[in-house]
Amino acid sequence: MKEIINGLFVFLEGNNKNKPIIFLHGFPYDHTMWKAQLDVLSEKYFCVTYDIRGLGESPVGDGQFTMESFVDELEIIMNELKLEKPILCGLSMGGYIGLRALEKFENKFSAVVLCDTRADADGNEGKLKRAGAIKRINKEGLEPFTKDFISNCYGEHYKQNKKEDFEKRIAKSSAFDPVGVKGSLLAMLGRNDTTDYLNKIKIPALVICGEFDALTPPAVMKTLADKINGAEFVVIKNCGHMSPIENPEEVNKAIVGFLKKL
Ligand code: MLT
Repeated sequence: MKEIINGLFVFLEGNNKNKPIIFLHGFPYDHTMWKAQLDVLSEKYFCVTYDIRGLGESPVGDGQFTMESFVDELEIIMNELKLEKPILCGLSMGGYIGLRALEKFENKFSAVVLCDTRADADGNEGKLKRAGAIKRINKEGLEPFTKDFISNCYGEHYKQNKKEDFEKRIAKSSAFDPVGVKGSLLAMLGRNDTTDYLNKIKIPALVICGEFDALTPPAVMKTLADKINGAEFVVIKNCGHMSPIENPEEVNKAIVGFLKKL
């Protein structure tokens, strides 16, 4: 089922009487990146996904995004759907939103799954990279940027064995509104560092990382996991940054195992 909340496209699967899980996608993707998780988890959980403003089907508005506005919109969706202590599950940019949401209102969640993400903010080099990406999109259009960015996201196994799916992912993201993609880049560039909050997290946490993740490598994610009291850390074999898409069986196994223990 699809609903529009605060102008954003929100997708609901499973029985709304079940425990809710809210999924936050990465950049430059949309809610469909969680399909393999929803196929399994919607049997026992009420699964909520949405397209973050300016990406996927959600309209760009004025294109002026901050991590704070992304968090505000997450809270609006949770309130509107009256989600009772959902489990928060975010990948990469979705994890940035999730960690900042925990910092602001952790008591509204019951557990967190952080996939292929980080708590530290962009350093100088990272900021210049984002600025370079915006300049490139302005000059060349979206496709060359998304092609390079997405290539870096996936491991070799997926790129070679799921060539067609991989090409489709690039084509889909290349058709997004460039203003939305640039708005997300600026929101990530300007985001706060959430590292100091990690050892304050009280809810159960699962930290997942693709073995060959080039953007948020296992060493970075292990450091993040070590800072969260009692966090479980799982490295997913044979995949890069997009572990839920590249190795859904292992990611689902890790999430289902974690949820069973709650
Ligand atoms: C993502 O997957 O959301 C991006 O890699 C995040 C980023 O560019 O920092």
